[in-house]
Amino acid sequence: MTDSRSISFAAGPRESVPLAVLRDVRKTYVMGDEQVHALDGVNLTIDHGDFLAILGPSGSGKSTMMHILGFMDKATGGEIIFEGEDVSRISAARRAWYRANRVGFIFQAFNLLPRLSVLENVILPMRYSRECDMREATARAEHAIERVGMTHRLHHRPSQLSGGERQRVAIARSMVNRPGIILADEPTGNLDSKNVGRILELLESLLVEGLTVIMVTHDLGVAEHARRVIAMRDGKIQEDRRR
Ligand SMILES: Nc1ncnc2c1ncn2[C@@H]1O[C@H](COP(=O)(O)OP(=O)(O)O)[C@@H](O)[C@H]1O
Ligand SMILES: [Mg+2]
Repeated sequence: MTDSRSISFAAGPRESVPLAVLRDVRKTYVMGDEQVHALDGVNLTIDHGDFLAILGPSGSGKSTMMHILGFMDKATGGEIIFEGEDVSRISAARRAWYRANRVGFIFQAFNLLPRLSVLENVILPMRYSRECDMREATARAEHAIERVGMTHRLHHRPSQLSGGERQRVAIARSMVNRPGIILADEPTGNLDSKNVGRILELLESLLVEGLTVIMVTHDLGVAEHARRVIAMRDGKIQEDRRR
């Protein structure tokens, strides 16, 4: 039985290998006669516990990269090793398992389900993953919600929250399954500067617990919080800088 009060965000079963290795990863969309190379040969090693920011102009492949890292989309070429397993050609069921259990998502538009309360939204990923019973799921969700300072809004609907509060709930939801990696696509895009600061603080607190965070942003000031900044252009990594 897991003690929900001492959630440990373990980095996954195989800490001795990098979290993810991408080799010559490609994603090509065929649009009539035209091919769109959304990812055009990406090579990248992501270490456990790292905090990466991905910068780049609109259309440079940032979201495509996040979808592929998050098992939401499949690459059309190259190789991806995730937590030591070659996931380039795994079954749909295995992909779904990774998506449900090893990845947490935070989106710019929050993507909370409007009909569900804060608590129900945060419980949802655990219902998909089916790795714990309802009692434990509730306890874990309450703990995650406490972490983001939203306990006073457990039974509110998303529409009854401010943008910053919704994003805090989205962060609670993303971490509740104890994933190896949090993928955040412009998590501060819709927020004022005070809330941006708060969201960054929360993301940084996840790192302390061994989580890996990858964040897409347009904002150089936001990217400065990351330890490693990757600049993308035309589906390629143009620059990869450690701070
Ligand atoms: N489903 C799709 N079908 C066709 N082209 C797509 C699709 N998704 C993205 N693209 C194209 O791939 C490129 C990269 O898109 P995206 O990863 O969303 O960029 P970014 O997030 O950096 O703005 C863009 O040129 C975009 O138009
Ligand atoms: Mg995008």
